[in-house]
Amino acid sequence: MPLLTMKQILDDAIAKNYGVGAFNINNMEQTLAIMSAADRTESPVILQASRGARKYAGPVMIYGLVQAAMKLYPKVPVALHLDHGNNFETCKQSMDDGWTSVMMDGSLMEDGKTPSTFEYNVDVTSRVVAEGHKRGITVEGEIGTLGGIEDGHGADRVKLADPDQAVEFAHKTGVDALALAFGTSHGAFKFKAKPVLAYDIVQAVNKKMPGLAIVSHGSSSVPPELVAEINKYGGKMPGAMGVPLEDIVRSIDFGVRKINIDTDLRLAATATIRKVFVETPEKFDIRDYLRPAMEAMSHVVETRMIAFRTAGKASNFTKVISLEEMAKVYAKK
Ligand code: G3H
Ligand code: 13P
Ligand code: ZN
Repeated sequence: MPLLTMKQILDDAIAKNYGVGAFNINNMEQTLAIMSAADRTESPVILQASRGARKYAGPVMIYGLVQAAMKLYPKVPVALHLDHGNNFETCKQSMDDGWTSVMMDGSLMEDGKTPSTFEYNVDVTSRVVAEGHKRGITVEGEIGTLGGIEDGHGADRVKLADPDQAVEFAHKTGVDALALAFGTSHGAFKFKAKPVLAYDIVQAVNKKMPGLAIVSHGSSSVPPELVAEINKYGGKMPGAMGVPLEDIVRSIDFGVRKINIDTDLRLAATATIRKVFVETPEKFDIRDYLRPAMEAMSHVVETRMIAFRTAGKASNFTKVISLEEMAKVYAKK
């Protein structure tokens, strides 16, 4: 099966009321962990690579890893998505590199930190939509600003999305998917106290635009048992906290379709590797710690696919809608 567009996957999620995890990849271990979980649970999946990932492994390596994993797991429907594109050029380059979906995060300026204006966001996102849709490629935008600056991206001031402005933004730009700031946050230190998500924002946008795929960034749960394991084996992550999994699952019923998870896989891998190092200090074969790390990440992904009701939905994708066909659909709009 070739790569699908993210729109094809999210349209099915909208029609059948489920959520799809979008998991970040930087290397072979993450890619295999995610793809094997999708295969076991018979789930479609969105693999996403950030600018940092494209810099770390290189776009050729990321694309090659995804192609190889798709050969190993041919029944898994996969979209390859650029996470947090910061300008038109990065989005266009990712399209040239074979990504079937891109995010233009125009809620922030190019530095990925300074909140932008609505007008700037509409302008840059519209240009990416025009380029993407010409090629049949899915485009995600963002409105409002999420917190979570500690890991190098995200705004330092949280600004929840205004539902009317979100709808106006979606109409003006023509985005297929829209990331809404409704209380989630990036990274492992999301909150000081249990979060209260503003489901009313999701609900209001979904009611006005039921065909728009709503995206929840910063959706890692930061499982306390993984944080405890990291701290037990020499790590230092006091106060790490995420969004409870049940709160994310609840957001699916209000209209969230794409659920971004990166931190939880980082935590699973770190906890496992730290444990191996402390318990068996004589080990130095990288497979001795990367294999269990891969299994731990895969377990996290599997639990999310089951919780989001993605499990069992792979068989919904009997036909891949090609980029050419998608481009024709967009051209008629
Ligand atoms: O929200 C973004 C993802 O967690 C990617 O993080 O930019 O450090 O690769 P990164
Ligand atoms: P987490 O940091 O909660 O995993 O969020 C990842 C994300 O939103 C990627 O875009
Ligand atoms: Zn994000």
